Amino acid sequence: MSDKISYSCHGDIAILTVQNPPVNALSQPVRQGLWDGMDRAEAEQGIRAIMIVGEGRAFFAGADITEFGKPPLKPHLPDLINRIESSPLLIVASMHGVSLGGGLEVALGCHYRIAVPTACVGLPEVHLGLLPGAGGTQRLPRLAGVIAALELMTTGRHVDAEEGHKLGIIDKIQDGDPNLNGIAYTQKLLDQNTPRRPVSDMPAPEKINWDEAFEKALKSGRGQISPAWCVRAVQASVEKPFEEGLEAERQIFYDLMQTEQRQGMIHAFFSQRAVSNLPELKGITPRPLKNIALIGGGTMGAGIATSALLSGLNVTVLEMNKHATQAAFDRIENNLSGAKKRGKIDSQQYEKIVNHSLKLVTDYGKLSDMDLVIEAVFEEMAVKKRVFEELDRICKPGTILASNTSYLDINEIAASTSRPADVLGLHFFSPAHVMKLLEVVVADATAPDVAATGFALGKTLGKISVRAGVCDGFIGNRILSTYRAAADHMILDGASPFEIDKALEEFGFAMGPFAVADLAGLDISWAVRKRKEAEGLDPRTRDACYADKLCEDGHFGQKTGKGYYDYTAGAKSRLPNPDVMPLIEAERQEKAIKPRKFGDTEIVRRYLAAMVNEAAKVVGEGIARRPLDVDMTLLFGYGFPRHWGGPLKWADIVGLEGLLRDIECYAQEDPYFWQTAPLLKRLVAEGRVFDDLNKAN
Ligand code: 3HC
Ligand code: NAI
Repeated sequence: MSDKISYSCHGDIAILTVQNPPVNALSQPVRQGLWDGMDRAEAEQGIRAIMIVGEGRAFFAGADITEFGKPPLKPHLPDLINRIESSPLLIVASMHGVSLGGGLEVALGCHYRIAVPTACVGLPEVHLGLLPGAGGTQRLPRLAGVIAALELMTTGRHVDAEEGHKLGIIDKIQDGDPNLNGIAYTQKLLDQNTPRRPVSDMPAPEKINWDEAFEKALKSGRGQISPAWCVRAVQASVEKPFEEGLEAERQIFYDLMQTEQRQGMIHAFFSQRAVSNLPELKGITPRPLKNIALIGGGTMGAGIATSALLSGLNVTVLEMNKHATQAAFDRIENNLSGAKKRGKIDSQQYEKIVNHSLKLVTDYGKLSDMDLVIEAVFEEMAVKKRVFEELDRICKPGTILASNTSYLDINEIAASTSRPADVLGLHFFSPAHVMKLLEVVVADATAPDVAATGFALGKTLGKISVRAGVCDGFIGNRILSTYRAAADHMILDGASPFEIDKALEEFGFAMGPFAVADLAGLDISWAVRKRKEAEGLDPRTRDACYADKLCEDGHFGQKTGKGYYDYTAGAKSRLPNPDVMPLIEAERQEKAIKPRKFGDTEIVRRYLAAMVNEAAKVVGEGIARRPLDVDMTLLFGYGFPRHWGGPLKWADIVGLEGLLRDIECYAQEDPYFWQTAPLLKRLVAEGRVFDDLNKAN
């Protein structure tokens, strides 16, 4: 028998214990071991029941995702589960930790299920571009009903033991050791002569309006198709005999396994875990982090402070004067009240944070003993330098000094202190207590343990931390500037902001770039444009000025009620602002541009080509260490659709050669903007893809 399963007996109960760290994924040796264990128990004299239990952190985290995309290995999971369910013995699952995907499907193939109170269950396959493919779509609706089963499958959410019990997934909840609990429960079932109870024998669940449910899931999937296909598989559980339902599920599972979305989502799953795992930081101990300070309690300072407070850190916010400290307190308090309302903290925690963990000051002297100070003042180099000079004077040796600047040069900021090794960029995204991304910007002199502390902070705050090098805008904002410019060029040439937003939202972005700009505030990009103009634009730059005119008239987007869109009827009612097209048309006339029509396909292609080309430059220059660092930045900070895995995974999937050809073709119109990234050319010449560079690192 495989060494992943240990076989033991307790009276007339055989116990199959799974040992496949870290999370008991159902890889081939585990499936084989369970199969052999079933054979052995059934052949053994006197054995009347089998109890399956996991060792370590989980019952089972599901199928082994590393096996996907490779030829399937026997025994297949659905066959194993059918074999478990049809055993003449009584089969019990004793669950703890997570039972996810194929892991829950194994439990559903057992005749009874007991769990500890901290256990949780779920069918998260949609997050991998798949659906439950080992009977989950057929068995769960029979236990929990069609509506609840569909909700679980299409959201992929984890359900705690109590809810699992209410839904009929878990028969009994009991605190204690899962092994001992499982044995006692199985013994009791045997003592009471409880019959086997295969879920497949249960009656088919209720009908719903399948087409309506399919369309609804398709719409909420924003381009992702697997949630909608869960509906069709569950429909089969109602309309077909069990065996045929299983076959229908299997067919859809195999079809989804062949999709680009499955490739993209599995890339996202592994990249999300690899992104903060930097070889250069292995074995480096981060500095302690308990007391942190924010300089500036505006939009970002207040958001970062909230995130830190919710993660248990002590936070001091320094503002310019009493009035500004009160405004900062109000922002933080408002964020914390929201967290309380959503059940993230209770009243006691709220009181403790507000009264003990948070301090607001105006005096730098109060910051002498901080472990980390994050500057979040206005985006002006002179102001930032003055802050860093003051911090350098006041803070104890070893305090880490960080800037949340969006674009400015961290090397220059570091040089304004006597301790550049202690300086780095910590670039959060707005709203900072909600957005998952953190760019850890490592400057030329940043010490390795300072970079490691940036990542440790990200982990404490529950962020996805990406290492970035210094350049204008680091990874994310630099790439954003380029694809936004590509969108503006399309506008000059004939597209409208509304057509562009629509095409990109259909592609899967949560919001198009113009709706995002309205949300972030048009004044921010206006300030960047003014700074770049002051620095001197290359005469070959194709500049679009129509948005400046909106700003000059005081229209900064959602916060002023008007931007590209009109929000006067509420933030959700997004109507095109009628003033925008005349401004664009005037600029076209002034520049003697004859507008032409852009279709959705061309809009998406040009926008993503600009994104990929700049991303390839960012990787080629070492600003991002690996393509996956860019992918995770765009996914967690810029709303790139997860089912494509990130822009460079998208590029790999659609083909680098065609993309290069398109960029060269666009370059004939505007050779300055469309300068091909050397890395893209090299990969095409060598017949390689971006993902090869992830594997090499
Ligand atoms: N297969 C292979 N490896 C897995 C895995 C799986 N199902 N689940 C987790 N791992 C790996 C991770 O990649 C990571 O590896 P690393 O240490 O080399 O980076 C390691 O296990 C630990 O994982 P996490 O860092 O994510 O640990 P956490 O404690 O934060 O989370 C978890 C644990 C909740 C189990 C989380 O890993 C998770 O959500 N896993 C995926 C669960 C899932 O999607 N299951 C369904 C699989 S598809 C399926 O079952 C198809 C079936 O219907 C036929
Ligand atoms: P903001 O204008 O909302 O807040 C700035 C705050 O800093 C104000 O409360 C101001 O009173 C305070 N301040 C200014 N000078 C100060 C000084 N010398 N000492 C103490 N406090 C001072 O600005 P926001 O949006 O919070 O931006 C702050 C920084 O974060 C900027 O560098 C910006 O580029 C960056 N950033 C902004 C993002 C955004 O979406 N708003 C996203 C990521 C980074």
